[in-house]
Amino acid sequence: MSQETLSNLSREDRRFEPPAAIAEHANLTAEAYDRAAADPEAFWAEQAERLSWDQRWDRVLDWDDPPFAQWFVGGRINAAYNCVDRHVEAGRGDKVAFHFVGEPLDDTRTITYAQLKDDVSQAANALTALGVEAGDRVAIYMPMIPEAVVTMLACARIGAPHTVVFGGFSSDALASRLEDCQAKVIVTADGGYRRGSASALKPAVDEARTKAEALGHTVEKVLVVRRTGQDVAWDDDVDVWWHESVATASTEHACEFFDAEHPLYVMYTSGTTGKPKGILHTTGGYLVGTSYTHWAVFDLKPDTDVYWCTADIGWVTGHSYIVYGPLANGATQVLYEGTPDSPERGRWWDIIEEYGVTIFYTAPTAIRSFMKQGREIPDKRDLSSLRILGSVGEPINPEAYVWYRSVIGGDRTPVVDTWWQTETGAIMISPLPGVTAGKPGSAMTAIPGVAADVVTDEGASVPDGSGGYLVLTQPWPSMLRTIWGDDERFKETYWSKYAAQGWYFAGDGAKKDTDGDLWVLGRVDDVMNVSGHRLSTTEIESALVSHPKVAEAAVVGAKDEDTGQAVVAFVILRDEAGDGGGDIVAELRKHVRTQIGPIATPRQIMIVAELPKTRSGKIMRRLLKDVAEHREIGDVTTLADSSVMELISAGVDSSPGED
Ligand code: WTA
Repeated sequence: MSQETLSNLSREDRRFEPPAAIAEHANLTAEAYDRAAADPEAFWAEQAERLSWDQRWDRVLDWDDPPFAQWFVGGRINAAYNCVDRHVEAGRGDKVAFHFVGEPLDDTRTITYAQLKDDVSQAANALTALGVEAGDRVAIYMPMIPEAVVTMLACARIGAPHTVVFGGFSSDALASRLEDCQAKVIVTADGGYRRGSASALKPAVDEARTKAEALGHTVEKVLVVRRTGQDVAWDDDVDVWWHESVATASTEHACEFFDAEHPLYVMYTSGTTGKPKGILHTTGGYLVGTSYTHWAVFDLKPDTDVYWCTADIGWVTGHSYIVYGPLANGATQVLYEGTPDSPERGRWWDIIEEYGVTIFYTAPTAIRSFMKQGREIPDKRDLSSLRILGSVGEPINPEAYVWYRSVIGGDRTPVVDTWWQTETGAIMISPLPGVTAGKPGSAMTAIPGVAADVVTDEGASVPDGSGGYLVLTQPWPSMLRTIWGDDERFKETYWSKYAAQGWYFAGDGAKKDTDGDLWVLGRVDDVMNVSGHRLSTTEIESALVSHPKVAEAAVVGAKDEDTGQAVVAFVILRDEAGDGGGDIVAELRKHVRTQIGPIATPRQIMIVAELPKTRSGKIMRRLLKDVAEHREIGDVTTLADSSVMELISAGVDSSPGED
């Protein structure tokens, strides 16, 4: 990034004070910020006391050999014991851990903590019987069913790091991960229910096993849950049914305690090169970070709250905020298998009404798709149980934030816009619902215990009103420990840019507004430079989405002879807007001009039916850039729907947008 700072052109004056009822009983109050800053290690030790340790640590942090951190050195702990057994031992065995809701109507299960303990113990015994020992890797490729959570906890219980691969990934993606982490066993299902039908998983596992074999890696066993009853190919030497092994195993399992730095899991995430990075998280610090943030940021009251995170367990959000954080806190959760529109639009709101969900955590992409469908659908349901709403995964546009708060939250609920990454393990930047006056579009400030800044290329902290790179300036317990098998790439990717300062480089652009609050603007490669002005794709997208006819927008910077880069926008209109009427493109260009300024006016706007997204809902701007720059379209293998790009490319040549 040059000396130029990110332009800070948009204005946001709306504020939402925390509701008195939440502020009065808040788990964490304003005093925590100063206390944590004064002595971060003491603050984190205090958070660690909320867990059960078999042996207490001797030292909170060993940062003698940066960037290789060790937290709670000498401590011994078992993650599954903390998530399950200790609640049962404390007399809360009858408390519901999960209200499981399958996608087919009336396919529900209620799982108490006592039941979960039996299930996890059986799975731990069955995995051990299959030859899995502490340190062995287990791959999990499953639908969103209770057995997926049970498997993760069973792995944690026996000290076998898991690697969950999202069930929507191809057999190639699965094979490369199996090979990279040398997985001994795969746990899967015949299939799961998605969009109203049974979708198979086992065939991809069979293929991936063959492909991994070709890469020189042999998977020894495949444990299969019968979920849909689909026909499956069967290899007697390798395949084992869950109902014949796990369900028949003993419910007694004495758990072993592991070193605080024992590996808990590897989660693959995409980087700037093609090869995915296996992010390694270890046990003690990760559990401290996830349980603390889940308690503080969502103000969890475990006796009365019903919490629902809509993420898939194939992503880090499912790991930290369905499995480890909430269960360590003894929360009662909803676990939903399917899609929001099956059997019809409004399914999510029906679930919130039926289970009285009080805390709801989802992604901006979902919120924008509900905005597109219109408020009539949620308005028909009683959502009055909700008290806190969360957002994660990408910047939430101010208009989407306000819609979320008012339509879903009935204008009562704080919205916590939580910034974090697979690498950070837990939430780093977020409002606190009982403390912070929310500002639409801003993730606000680092939470107590975390230190973040926005800095220039050279590492100078930028003044309020300017932008730069987001960094974390102190180690934190749930930080990634390395990239699996690649310490060099770990150092290079995250710690080399600010090696002199010892800061973590997040790869995101951010700005501080005039109040000093943080706005995360997206990955730094999403930052454009138009005529020497730095512009964020996110700011322009937010301006477009604030137009009443627009549902969703993606903006890229395309090479331009005159201006270096030019703004190119891809826009989805709301259903009720039809084809937009009149000269919609001119109308939107004018709208952006008045919202942000002439500099941000898109050179070209294309009205499209869909945007290319990864399966976790992130817009793949790289592909849109290819279209905008009239290049052949790059690798589309991580797209949720690969036909989307053909549609967009076909529309481009006939688009009236260019002028
Ligand atoms: C983006 C998901 C703005 C950011 C937990 C980050 C966000 C990347 C936010 C990590 C947010 C996540 N506001 N941007 N609240 N949350 N991001 O690893 O670019 O899938 O670097 O972790 O998502 O994505 P990941």
